[in-house]
Amino acid sequence: MTCEQLHHVSLIVNGVERSAAVPARTLLSDFLRHELGLFGTHVGCEQGVCGACTVLIGGRLARSCTTFAVQVQGEEIRTVEGLANGDELHPIQESFRRCHGLQCGFCTPGFLMATEALLSENDDPSDSEIRDFLSGNVCRCTGYVGIVASVKDAALRARGVNGSDQ
Ligand code: FES
Ligand code: FES
Repeated sequence: MTCEQLHHVSLIVNGVERSAAVPARTLLSDFLRHELGLFGTHVGCEQGVCGACTVLIGGRLARSCTTFAVQVQGEEIRTVEGLANGDELHPIQESFRRCHGLQCGFCTPGFLMATEALLSENDDPSDSEIRDFLSGNVCRCTGYVGIVASVKDAALRARGVNGSDQ
């Protein structure tokens, strides 16, 4: 039992209205994971450094670990669960799979969401533009060569060109 005041938060998450009553201090990352059961959004540093918790809020990249759920009342949130179409991987996910853009996968949801944001504004990014855009996401095991290759492959797909057949 808690004496803490609860606040009703209602969000559009991956196109579906979801709501819960939570304390004002509840982080969006905790709201997604523990209130909505969307564990695809990972939590690493909890201080806005690693990018594992990256989601899209109203189409803009955001750190869900440094955002309170009550701050985004009524907003459209997109998480990694919103990428795939049932059992069919999203093209960005398919590119990461084929181009060795992940190993343990802990950082991957954040990289996927950042890539989605990048390609929505630039469907033909250079290597340096990719590295610059993804500089807020940290991977500790894959190395960035495979990740950049994955994003290039996803960009090709976004432009309707067949990606690499690895
Ligand atoms: S968990 Fe949010 S930036 Fe690291
Ligand atoms: S794939 Fe393991 S941390 Fe990036």
